[in-house]
Amino acid sequence: MAKVTIDGITIDVPDGTTILNAARMIGGEIVPPAMCYYSKLKTSGGYCRTCIVKVTKGSEKDPRPMPKPVASCRTTVMDGMEVQNITSPDLLEARAGVVEFLLLNHPLDCPVCDQAGECHLQDLAYQNGKVETRFEFPRREFERRDIGKNVQLHMNRCILCYRCVKVADQITDGRVHGVMNRGEVAEISTYIENEMSGNVIDVCPVGALTDKTFRFKSRVWYTKPVDAHRDCPSCTGKVRLWYKGEEVLRVTARKDQYGEVEDWICNTCRFDKKDTRDWVIDGPSKISRESVISANHYESLQALKKATKEQLAMALPHGEKVNAGEGALNPNNQKQ
Ligand code: SF4
Ligand code: SF4
Ligand code: FES
Repeated sequence: MAKVTIDGITIDVPDGTTILNAARMIGGEIVPPAMCYYSKLKTSGGYCRTCIVKVTKGSEKDPRPMPKPVASCRTTVMDGMEVQNITSPDLLEARAGVVEFLLLNHPLDCPVCDQAGECHLQDLAYQNGKVETRFEFPRREFERRDIGKNVQLHMNRCILCYRCVKVADQITDGRVHGVMNRGEVAEISTYIENEMSGNVIDVCPVGALTDKTFRFKSRVWYTKPVDAHRDCPSCTGKVRLWYKGEEVLRVTARKDQYGEVEDWICNTCRFDKKDTRDWVIDGPSKISRESVISANHYESLQALKKATKEQLAMALPHGEKVNAGEGALNPNNQKQ
């Protein structure tokens, strides 16, 4: 075991744990953001540098600080190590620099991007970005490429995190997806069609890979996520259905608090099962309170509806009917 202190909080972790995973074991605001690391994908991490931290003490044996910020997803803890993330203004400034680089060529066209509302880059830009860019050159643009009937590639938004490449390599049979060229002209390409290929959509942290069957149908915050399952011969069949009214607009894998999928799902579940009768409903999905999707969330509306019904039942004389329907609970219908 190794003892590590991150932002003043000490924890014992198994040898070989990375600083990022040690921070995740502590949890909360001290967890660095991660745009390319993905715990379910081998060899992920080390590309984006959003997870950088400051190591102020290397270890008990060698207490010298590390000379520059390190990628927490690729640096393992040493016994006695001390690390700063949100408690170091220098580090936060360095992370703002990383975000500035990520956005150099990024279109930031969130108003017309399907990922808006659940985009890690949008969150990062909001938390660390600057209002103006210092970049004076024309932004890099790519020709549109067809990478299959279900997945839309919008290369201008790609941050080259390699997650989709790892999915193609590790989750699908016969890899046919990767990065072509190097440097400024590097791009994701080639045609991908495989029963598990839709998972590239879920791992993409930005709006570079989106679901062709869902594109432009709704802003994600107008949909209601519900967990459901089915008996599927190809995957676990545990999914999240995104409802608008009675209609299932899209099917995704369920994601944890770090935006990582819990179980990979197959394309049949994702693209071909958009009828409630295909599924056994488990209940409303748990969505982080910080997410824009949690506003107007189905789960809280249901709780509000139940509480309102109970309150009205107590206030009204016996026998009177209570009607606490959606209309009564619609925030737009309430007086401020
Ligand atoms: S990928 Fe994210 S940051 Fe980029 S345009 Fe889409 S929502 Fe905005
Ligand atoms: S398309 Fe998405 S998942 Fe693939 S490298 Fe680009 S940003 Fe990452
Ligand atoms: S998450 Fe660590 S380098 Fe990208």
